[in-house]
Amino acid sequence: MAGSSGFPRYRPRRLRRTEGLRRLVRETEISAADLILPLFVAPATGVRTPVSSMPGVDQTSVDELLRDAEQAHRLEIPAVLLFGIPESKDELGTEGYAQDGVVQRAVRALKRELPELIVITDVCLCEYTSHGHCGVLQGDTVDNDETLPLLARMAVSHAEAGADIVAPSDMMDGRVGAIRSALDDRGFASVAVLAYSAKYASAFYGPFREAADSTPQFGDRRGYQMDPANAREAMREAQQDLLEGADMLMVKPALPYLDIIARLRAETEYPICAYHVSGEYAMIMAAGERGWIDTDRAMREALTSIKRAGADMIISYYAREFVRR
Ligand code: PBG
Repeated sequence: MAGSSGFPRYRPRRLRRTEGLRRLVRETEISAADLILPLFVAPATGVRTPVSSMPGVDQTSVDELLRDAEQAHRLEIPAVLLFGIPESKDELGTEGYAQDGVVQRAVRALKRELPELIVITDVCLCEYTSHGHCGVLQGDTVDNDETLPLLARMAVSHAEAGADIVAPSDMMDGRVGAIRSALDDRGFASVAVLAYSAKYASAFYGPFREAADSTPQFGDRRGYQMDPANAREAMREAQQDLLEGADMLMVKPALPYLDIIARLRAETEYPICAYHVSGEYAMIMAAGERGWIDTDRAMREALTSIKRAGADMIISYYAREFVRR
Protein backbone atom coordinates (compact mmCIF):
# COMPACT_ATOMS: atom_id res chain seq x y z
CA MET A 1 0.00 0.00 0.00
CA ALA A 2 1.77 3.12 -1.24
CA GLY A 3 1.00 6.33 0.62
CA SER A 4 2.42 9.72 1.36
CA SER A 5 5.14 10.15 3.91
CA GLY A 6 2.67 10.16 6.81
CA PHE A 7 1.82 12.77 9.40
CA PRO A 8 2.07 15.75 9.32
CA ARG A 9 1.90 15.76 5.51
CA TYR A 10 -0.91 13.20 5.56
CA ARG A 11 -3.91 14.34 7.58
CA PRO A 12 -6.99 12.08 7.16
CA ARG A 13 -9.13 14.74 8.81
CA ARG A 14 -8.83 16.90 5.65
CA LEU A 15 -11.46 14.73 3.97
CA ARG A 16 -13.77 14.68 6.98
CA ARG A 17 -14.14 18.43 7.38
CA THR A 18 -17.54 18.97 5.81
CA GLU A 19 -20.52 16.87 4.77
CA GLY A 20 -19.70 17.65 1.14
CA LEU A 21 -16.24 16.12 1.49
CA ARG A 22 -17.56 13.18 3.47
CA ARG A 23 -20.15 12.45 0.81
CA LEU A 24 -17.51 12.62 -1.88
CA VAL A 25 -15.39 9.90 -0.31
CA ARG A 26 -18.19 7.78 1.17
CA GLU A 27 -17.69 4.13 0.27
CA THR A 28 -21.00 2.58 1.24
CA GLU A 29 -24.47 3.91 0.63
CA ILE A 30 -27.79 2.18 1.27
CA SER A 31 -30.83 2.97 -0.80
CA ALA A 32 -34.40 1.69 -0.89
CA ALA A 33 -33.34 -0.68 -3.68
CA ASP A 34 -31.17 -2.66 -1.22
CA LEU A 35 -34.00 -3.43 1.20
CA ILE A 36 -36.54 -6.21 1.65
CA LEU A 37 -39.47 -5.81 4.06
CA PRO A 38 -40.66 -8.89 6.02
CA LEU A 39 -44.43 -9.15 6.59
CA PHE A 40 -46.51 -11.53 8.73
CA VAL A 41 -49.81 -12.63 7.25
CA ALA A 42 -52.67 -13.92 9.39
CA PRO A 43 -56.16 -15.32 8.54
CA ALA A 44 -59.47 -13.38 8.46
CA THR A 45 -59.90 -9.73 7.52
CA GLY A 46 -59.39 -6.42 9.26
CA VAL A 47 -56.71 -7.89 11.49
CA ARG A 48 -53.73 -5.83 12.63
CA THR A 49 -52.13 -7.21 15.79
CA PRO A 50 -48.97 -5.51 16.99
CA VAL A 51 -46.03 -7.77 17.89
CA SER A 52 -45.11 -6.54 21.35
CA SER A 53 -41.39 -7.30 21.12
CA MET A 54 -41.09 -5.64 17.69
CA PRO A 55 -42.44 -2.07 17.77
CA GLY A 56 -43.74 -1.10 14.32
CA VAL A 57 -44.30 -4.72 13.23
CA ASP A 58 -47.80 -6.23 13.04
CA GLN A 59 -49.45 -9.50 12.15
CA THR A 60 -51.98 -8.56 9.48
CA SER A 61 -54.73 -10.19 7.47
CA VAL A 62 -54.36 -10.05 3.67
CA ASP A 63 -56.36 -6.79 3.28
CA GLU A 64 -54.16 -4.98 5.80
CA LEU A 65 -51.03 -6.60 4.40
CA LEU A 66 -51.83 -5.00 1.06
CA ARG A 67 -51.65 -1.56 2.69
CA ASP A 68 -48.22 -2.27 4.15
CA ALA A 69 -46.97 -3.67 0.87
CA GLU A 70 -48.39 -0.68 -1.00
CA GLN A 71 -46.46 1.65 1.33
CA ALA A 72 -43.27 -0.29 0.72
CA HIS A 73 -43.87 -0.15 -3.01
CA ARG A 74 -44.47 3.61 -2.92
CA LEU A 75 -41.21 4.01 -0.99
CA GLU A 76 -39.50 2.10 -3.82
CA ILE A 77 -38.61 -0.89 -1.70
CA PRO A 78 -38.42 -3.61 -4.37
CA ALA A 79 -39.46 -6.67 -2.39
CA VAL A 80 -41.39 -8.11 0.54
CA LEU A 81 -40.77 -11.42 2.35
CA LEU A 82 -43.87 -13.25 3.58
CA PHE A 83 -44.33 -15.40 6.68
CA GLY A 84 -47.66 -17.09 7.47
CA ILE A 85 -49.61 -17.55 10.66
CA PRO A 86 -52.01 -20.36 9.73
CA GLU A 87 -55.58 -20.92 10.82
CA SER A 88 -54.61 -24.23 12.36
CA LYS A 89 -51.46 -26.28 12.89
CA ASP A 90 -50.86 -30.01 12.68
CA GLU A 91 -48.05 -32.57 12.85
CA LEU A 92 -47.22 -32.26 9.16
CA GLY A 93 -47.77 -28.52 8.76
CA THR A 94 -50.31 -29.10 5.98
CA GLU A 95 -51.53 -25.51 5.81
CA GLY A 96 -48.01 -24.57 4.74
CA TYR A 97 -48.53 -26.18 1.35
CA ALA A 98 -52.30 -25.81 0.98
CA GLN A 99 -53.42 -24.07 -2.20
CA ASP A 100 -55.61 -21.70 -0.21
CA GLY A 101 -53.17 -21.33 2.70
CA VAL A 102 -52.70 -17.92 4.20
CA VAL A 103 -49.43 -17.15 2.38
CA GLN A 104 -50.72 -18.48 -0.94
CA ARG A 105 -53.73 -16.16 -0.66
CA ALA A 106 -51.52 -13.24 0.25
CA VAL A 107 -49.23 -13.86 -2.73
CA ARG A 108 -52.19 -13.94 -5.12
CA ALA A 109 -53.57 -10.68 -3.72
CA LEU A 110 -50.17 -8.99 -3.88
CA LYS A 111 -49.56 -10.08 -7.46
CA ARG A 112 -53.02 -8.86 -8.44
CA GLU A 113 -52.74 -5.45 -6.75
CA LEU A 114 -49.00 -4.70 -7.01
CA PRO A 115 -47.66 -6.83 -9.86
CA GLU A 116 -44.26 -5.12 -9.91
CA LEU A 117 -43.52 -5.70 -6.25
CA ILE A 118 -41.22 -8.73 -5.87
CA VAL A 119 -42.77 -11.34 -3.61
CA ILE A 120 -40.42 -13.62 -1.69
CA THR A 121 -41.89 -16.41 0.43
CA ASP A 122 -40.34 -18.14 3.42
CA VAL A 123 -40.29 -21.90 2.89
CA CYS A 124 -40.25 -23.65 6.26
CA LEU A 125 -42.69 -25.75 8.25
CA CYS A 126 -42.14 -24.33 11.74
CA GLU A 127 -44.98 -21.81 11.52
CA TYR A 128 -47.37 -24.58 10.47
CA THR A 129 -46.46 -27.56 12.65
CA SER A 130 -48.12 -28.18 16.02
CA HIS A 131 -44.69 -29.02 17.51
CA GLY A 132 -43.04 -25.90 16.06
CA HIS A 133 -40.11 -27.69 14.43
CA CYS A 134 -39.04 -26.98 10.86
CA GLY A 135 -39.90 -30.41 9.47
CA VAL A 136 -41.54 -33.79 10.02
CA LEU A 137 -40.76 -35.50 13.32
CA GLN A 138 -39.45 -39.02 13.73
CA GLY A 139 -39.60 -39.42 17.49
CA ASP A 140 -37.86 -36.32 18.80
CA THR A 141 -35.78 -35.49 15.75
CA VAL A 142 -36.68 -33.82 12.50
CA ASP A 143 -36.51 -36.34 9.67
CA ASN A 144 -34.52 -34.70 6.91
CA ASP A 145 -35.51 -36.80 3.90
CA GLU A 146 -39.20 -37.04 4.85
CA THR A 147 -39.30 -33.27 5.09
CA LEU A 148 -37.86 -32.54 1.63
CA PRO A 149 -40.97 -33.41 -0.43
CA LEU A 150 -43.13 -31.23 1.83
CA LEU A 151 -40.79 -28.27 1.39
CA ALA A 152 -40.81 -28.85 -2.36
CA ARG A 153 -44.63 -28.91 -2.34
CA MET A 154 -44.69 -25.71 -0.33
CA ALA A 155 -42.34 -23.97 -2.77
CA VAL A 156 -44.44 -25.11 -5.75
CA SER A 157 -47.64 -23.89 -4.07
CA HIS A 158 -46.02 -20.48 -3.56
CA ALA A 159 -44.88 -20.43 -7.20
CA GLU A 160 -48.39 -21.35 -8.37
CA ALA A 161 -49.72 -18.40 -6.42
CA GLY A 162 -47.22 -16.13 -8.20
CA ALA A 163 -44.16 -15.86 -5.92
CA ASP A 164 -41.06 -14.53 -7.67
CA ILE A 165 -38.54 -15.97 -5.22
CA VAL A 166 -38.79 -18.80 -2.68
CA ALA A 167 -36.55 -18.72 0.36
CA PRO A 168 -36.05 -22.01 2.21
CA SER A 169 -35.13 -21.32 5.85
CA ASP A 170 -35.59 -24.81 7.27
CA MET A 171 -31.93 -25.93 7.04
CA MET A 172 -32.67 -29.47 5.87
CA ASP A 173 -29.87 -30.99 3.78
CA GLY A 174 -30.68 -31.16 0.08
CA ARG A 175 -33.65 -28.83 0.21
CA VAL A 176 -32.38 -26.42 -2.43
CA GLY A 177 -31.97 -29.26 -4.93
CA ALA A 178 -35.36 -30.74 -4.06
CA ILE A 179 -37.06 -27.37 -4.45
CA ARG A 180 -35.23 -26.50 -7.69
CA SER A 181 -36.19 -29.83 -9.28
CA ALA A 182 -39.82 -29.56 -8.18
CA LEU A 183 -40.09 -26.00 -9.52
CA ASP A 184 -38.52 -26.97 -12.85
CA ASP A 185 -40.73 -30.06 -13.21
CA ARG A 186 -43.84 -27.98 -12.67
CA GLY A 187 -42.93 -25.28 -15.18
CA PHE A 188 -41.55 -22.72 -12.75
CA ALA A 189 -38.02 -22.51 -14.12
CA SER A 190 -38.09 -18.73 -13.72
CA VAL A 191 -38.85 -18.74 -10.00
CA ALA A 192 -35.60 -18.04 -8.12
CA VAL A 193 -34.29 -19.70 -4.97
CA LEU A 194 -32.83 -17.55 -2.21
CA ALA A 195 -31.12 -20.08 0.07
CA TYR A 196 -30.70 -19.39 3.77
CA SER A 197 -27.27 -20.98 3.40
CA ALA A 198 -25.74 -19.86 6.64
CA LYS A 199 -28.60 -19.81 9.10
CA TYR A 200 -27.30 -20.03 12.64
CA ALA A 201 -29.07 -21.48 15.69
CA SER A 202 -29.43 -18.02 17.18
CA ALA A 203 -30.87 -16.42 20.30
CA PHE A 204 -31.68 -13.41 18.12
CA TYR A 205 -34.78 -15.08 16.63
CA GLY A 206 -36.69 -14.68 19.90
CA PRO A 207 -39.07 -11.87 18.91
CA PHE A 208 -39.75 -13.50 15.53
CA ARG A 209 -41.04 -16.58 17.26
CA GLU A 210 -43.61 -14.39 18.99
CA ALA A 211 -44.50 -12.75 15.67
CA ALA A 212 -44.79 -16.04 13.77
CA ASP A 213 -45.94 -18.13 16.73
CA SER A 214 -43.25 -20.68 15.90
CA THR A 215 -41.46 -21.49 19.16
CA PRO A 216 -40.57 -25.21 19.26
CA GLN A 217 -42.76 -27.02 21.80
CA PHE A 218 -39.75 -29.06 22.98
CA GLY A 219 -36.02 -28.93 22.43
CA ASP A 220 -34.39 -26.41 20.13
CA ARG A 221 -33.18 -26.07 16.55
CA ARG A 222 -29.50 -26.86 17.10
CA GLY A 223 -29.89 -30.23 15.39
CA TYR A 224 -30.45 -28.52 12.04
CA GLN A 225 -29.44 -24.85 12.26
CA MET A 226 -25.74 -23.99 12.28
CA ASP A 227 -23.45 -23.73 15.29
CA PRO A 228 -22.56 -20.04 15.87
CA ALA A 229 -18.94 -21.10 16.35
CA ASN A 230 -18.48 -22.23 12.75
CA ALA A 231 -17.33 -20.17 9.77
CA ARG A 232 -15.76 -22.71 7.41
CA GLU A 233 -18.92 -24.79 7.63
CA ALA A 234 -20.88 -21.80 6.32
CA MET A 235 -18.68 -21.81 3.20
CA ARG A 236 -19.45 -25.50 2.67
CA GLU A 237 -23.19 -24.87 3.10
CA ALA A 238 -23.04 -22.03 0.57
CA GLN A 239 -21.08 -24.09 -1.93
CA GLN A 240 -23.52 -26.96 -1.60
CA ASP A 241 -26.53 -24.67 -2.07
CA LEU A 242 -24.98 -23.23 -5.23
CA LEU A 243 -24.32 -26.73 -6.58
CA GLU A 244 -27.98 -27.56 -5.90
CA GLY A 245 -29.16 -24.51 -7.83
CA ALA A 246 -29.43 -21.57 -5.44
CA ASP A 247 -29.58 -18.18 -7.18
CA MET A 248 -28.74 -16.12 -4.10
CA LEU A 249 -27.25 -16.87 -0.71
CA MET A 250 -28.29 -15.63 2.69
CA VAL A 251 -26.48 -15.08 5.96
CA LYS A 252 -28.62 -14.86 9.08
CA PRO A 253 -28.48 -13.16 11.59
CA ALA A 254 -26.40 -10.28 10.25
CA LEU A 255 -24.45 -8.29 12.85
CA PRO A 256 -22.99 -11.19 14.86
CA TYR A 257 -21.99 -12.80 11.52
CA LEU A 258 -20.43 -9.93 9.54
CA ASP A 259 -17.29 -12.04 9.18
CA ILE A 260 -19.35 -14.70 7.39
CA ILE A 261 -20.81 -12.10 5.02
CA ALA A 262 -17.33 -10.71 4.27
CA ARG A 263 -15.85 -14.14 3.75
CA LEU A 264 -18.68 -15.25 1.49
CA ARG A 265 -18.31 -12.01 -0.46
CA ALA A 266 -14.65 -12.85 -1.07
CA GLU A 267 -15.44 -16.42 -2.15
CA THR A 268 -18.50 -16.09 -4.39
CA GLU A 269 -19.75 -13.94 -7.25
CA TYR A 270 -23.39 -14.73 -6.41
CA PRO A 271 -25.69 -12.14 -4.81
CA ILE A 272 -25.60 -12.17 -1.02
CA CYS A 273 -28.56 -11.30 1.15
CA ALA A 274 -28.27 -10.63 4.89
CA TYR A 275 -31.13 -10.91 7.35
CA HIS A 276 -31.01 -8.27 10.09
CA VAL A 277 -33.23 -10.39 12.30
CA SER A 278 -35.95 -9.73 14.86
CA GLY A 279 -33.67 -9.74 17.93
CA GLU A 280 -31.22 -7.35 16.31
CA TYR A 281 -34.14 -5.04 15.49
CA ALA A 282 -35.72 -5.40 18.93
CA MET A 283 -32.49 -4.52 20.76
CA ILE A 284 -32.09 -1.24 18.94
CA MET A 285 -35.79 -0.37 19.23
CA ALA A 286 -35.86 -1.18 22.96
CA ALA A 287 -32.76 0.85 23.75
CA GLY A 288 -34.23 3.68 21.66
CA GLU A 289 -37.50 3.58 23.61
CA ARG A 290 -35.55 3.99 26.82
CA GLY A 291 -33.66 6.92 25.41
CA TRP A 292 -30.39 5.02 25.70
CA ILE A 293 -29.61 5.12 22.02
CA ASP A 294 -30.62 7.13 18.96
CA THR A 295 -32.73 4.53 17.16
CA ASP A 296 -32.45 5.93 13.67
CA ARG A 297 -28.71 6.52 13.80
CA ALA A 298 -28.07 3.11 15.33
CA MET A 299 -30.23 1.41 12.72
CA ARG A 300 -28.48 3.26 9.89
CA GLU A 301 -25.08 2.32 11.29
CA ALA A 302 -26.10 -1.33 11.64
CA LEU A 303 -27.50 -1.53 8.09
CA THR A 304 -24.46 0.28 6.68
CA SER A 305 -22.10 -2.16 8.37
CA ILE A 306 -24.00 -5.09 6.85
CA LYS A 307 -23.71 -3.62 3.37
CA ARG A 308 -20.07 -2.66 3.96
CA ALA A 309 -19.31 -6.26 4.92
CA GLY A 310 -20.49 -7.33 1.47
CA ALA A 311 -24.26 -7.86 1.43
CA ASP A 312 -26.05 -6.85 -1.77
CA MET A 313 -29.44 -6.72 -0.08
CA ILE A 314 -30.74 -6.62 3.47
CA ILE A 315 -33.95 -7.95 4.96
CA SER A 316 -34.98 -5.38 7.55
CA TYR A 317 -38.05 -4.68 9.69
CA TYR A 318 -36.88 -1.08 9.60
CA ALA A 319 -37.01 -0.85 5.77
CA ARG A 320 -39.98 1.54 5.49
CA GLU A 321 -38.84 3.74 8.35
CA PHE A 322 -35.34 3.86 6.88
CA VAL A 323 -36.56 5.13 3.51
CA ARG A 324 -39.08 7.56 5.07
CA ARG A 325 -36.30 9.30 6.95
C1 PBG B 1 -38.27 -19.99 10.16
C2 PBG B 1 -37.61 -18.68 10.33
C3 PBG B 1 -37.14 -18.04 11.50
C4 PBG B 1 -36.73 -16.76 11.12
C5 PBG B 1 -36.92 -16.65 9.75
N1 PBG B 1 -37.46 -17.86 9.27
C6 PBG B 1 -37.13 -18.48 12.91
C7 PBG B 1 -36.38 -19.64 13.36
O1 PBG B 1 -35.62 -20.28 12.64
O2 PBG B 1 -36.60 -19.96 14.52
C8 PBG B 1 -36.19 -15.70 12.03
C9 PBG B 1 -36.29 -14.30 11.52
C10 PBG B 1 -36.10 -13.23 12.55
O3 PBG B 1 -35.72 -13.51 13.70
O4 PBG B 1 -36.34 -12.07 12.21
N2 PBG B 1 -37.50 -21.11 10.33
